[in-house]
Amino acid sequence: MRTKTLLTGLLAATLLVSTTSFSFLGSQDDEPTPLQQAMVKMQGSQKAMRQLIADPATNKAALLRACAMIQEGAHAGFSLAPKAPADADENQWRIGYQRTMLAVLDAALECELAVHAGDAEGVAAAYKKMGEHKKAGHDTYQK
Ligand code: HEM
Repeated sequence: MRTKTLLTGLLAATLLVSTTSFSFLGSQDDEPTPLQQAMVKMQGSQKAMRQLIADPATNKAALLRACAMIQEGAHAGFSLAPKAPADADENQWRIGYQRTMLAVLDAALECELAVHAGDAEGVAAAYKKMGEHKKAGHDTYQK
């Protein structure tokens, strides 16, 4: 009888533990948002490109993959503008965000074109532009 009570108690405790949300351990609230997912996708590729652009001919395939990932990320991010602050004009905020995201997409396309053309200087220039537009986007829209 005592063993049965003990086992029932143990089962109840296990159920309680498994259904309790421990926010300090990370819960559903920590799931990255679609915008964060798009950003992380771009981040990995931009980081990889830093090394790859030194020799675009040798790294052609990897560079094309990185350009494509940034294009995908910027494309996904385009429609995910964060909410405008209370003191901002909503349309100006959203359109400014989207144009900056498009500038990243455009720089990634320019980069792809330069990789195809074997234009190392063009690759480096497009990569630099990408970084500048990223900074502009973060300065204004990342809070
Ligand atoms: C190559 C271009 C870019 C890269 C690699 C990049 C990378 C990142 C990374 C790593 C984060 C942090 C994500 C996280 O918290 O897990 C982030 C956040 C963010 N980025 Fe970008 N970013 C780029 C361009 C842009 C542009 C152009 C804009 C705006 C037009 C932008 C707006 C934001 C915003 C609003 C956040 C905050 C998202 C949130 O925490 O809800 N980013 N970005």
